[in-house]
Amino acid sequence: MAAKGRRNEIHKIQPNGLTVSELCIGTGIFGMQTDEDLKAKLDELKNDYRKGDATAASRNSFSNFTFFWRLFAMAIIGSTVNRRFVLAKRPESPTSPASRDLFELQSVDVPELADGEFLVESHWMSLDPWIRGTMNGNRSYQASVELGDVMRALCAGRVVVSRNAAFPVGTPVSGMLGWQDYAVTDGTLIRKIPENAPLELGLNLLGINGQTAWFGINDIGKPKAGETAVVTAAAGGVGSIAVQLLKAAGCRVIGLAGDDEKCEWVKSIGAADCINYKTTDIGKALSVLCPDRVDVVFDNVGGAMLDELLLHLNTNARIVLSGALSRYNAKPEPLTNWLQLHINRATMKGYIFLDHFDRFDEADTDMMRRWERGELLYREHIIDGLENAPDALSKLFDGSNRGKLLVKIR
Ligand SMILES: NC(=O)c1ccc[n+]([C@@H]2O[C@H](COP(=O)([O-])OP(=O)(O)OC[C@H]3O[C@@H](n4cnc5c(N)ncnc54)[C@H](OP(=O)(O)O)[C@@H]3O)[C@@H](O)[C@H]2O)c1
Repeated sequence: MAAKGRRNEIHKIQPNGLTVSELCIGTGIFGMQTDEDLKAKLDELKNDYRKGDATAASRNSFSNFTFFWRLFAMAIIGSTVNRRFVLAKRPESPTSPASRDLFELQSVDVPELADGEFLVESHWMSLDPWIRGTMNGNRSYQASVELGDVMRALCAGRVVVSRNAAFPVGTPVSGMLGWQDYAVTDGTLIRKIPENAPLELGLNLLGINGQTAWFGINDIGKPKAGETAVVTAAAGGVGSIAVQLLKAAGCRVIGLAGDDEKCEWVKSIGAADCINYKTTDIGKALSVLCPDRVDVVFDNVGGAMLDELLLHLNTNARIVLSGALSRYNAKPEPLTNWLQLHINRATMKGYIFLDHFDRFDEADTDMMRRWERGELLYREHIIDGLENAPDALSKLFDGSNRGKLLVKIR
């Protein structure tokens, strides 16, 4: 789908000096099903006007706003088609993987705008573990996606048409725009991305991953210089930022990750050491690497890994419950070592980054400053094309993503 360089089309279709609106109102083309139909009809109209045959061009009087919008969309954004994924079927069980047959790719008209709304053309889509939870139809912190609804996701893109003065055309934004090319929003929970940052940073350091690490560490972990911190899924999008923020706070950081290459990378961004939990006895390794025990746990994994970590807590330890990757697609499993919380006067607290929307500026300003100084490193695992998103979601659960998992839409 071509999206760029179509603005000149406006001038090309005005051989008689007519405005786009006059041309639209004067003509009215109905039942155009595809962009090809619309382009062919535009060519026909151009010829009619060139020949001075305005009667031929206007024989279908305008009575359909949708037509005007589609012609406008074609002239301004280069397409009238919005590709989108809807949830076609629920997974067999909460523990089964999100296979491609659960999604349906649809092509629909680019949505129209009401007053106060604007249209965002998404360039990047963030694949996050919470998305899988919305497919099950049961209660979670994110509402379920209903069958036939557009799959939910955070995306970053630019405003391409606007009826909202606060978000003029060209504004780089991020927000819950869904698995689709174009989304209409009134600006609710939409963030502006700084002009000097790449768009995708609005889904990473200046988005869900950065904010999750930042609020978890600053509000719950409260690290002090000289303390020992452990981060699980340390090579991932959230985990790798947590490693660097904890290190910057003066902690000695130990990471856990699923292979040696990931462990090497975690060390390269500041961890004192990293345990390959697939080949190493975590308990023994933690006893050796954390002789003074652990003050801050930033946990992304839950389950048996968290249970083991409870055995290594220091007095007054803080456990940040960022997420539970090992449990999202698995049967519930009891924590057996919870008494350690009592013995060590430890706290364990869950949180959701979105609850802090009114403080995102605070986190983003700090993260932006660190990024500009080159203090925050990240890696991105990029999936090319919206059409490939369904096959990519499971990477978060089988460990095959290396860094922040993003879909490049355009
Ligand atoms: N609280 C919030 O508001 C909030 C917001 C966003 C994300 N989160 C949480 O942050 C965590 C990380 O999310 P992310 O998007 O950054 O994903 P990610 O860490 O980039 O990717 C997931 C990684 O988790 C590891 N993993 C998957 N299953 C595992 C298992 N059974 N045991 C151990 N490790 C496993 C894999 O790495 P290995 O190869 O190392 O196993 C995988 O690559 C998730 O728990 C997510 O729910 C929380």
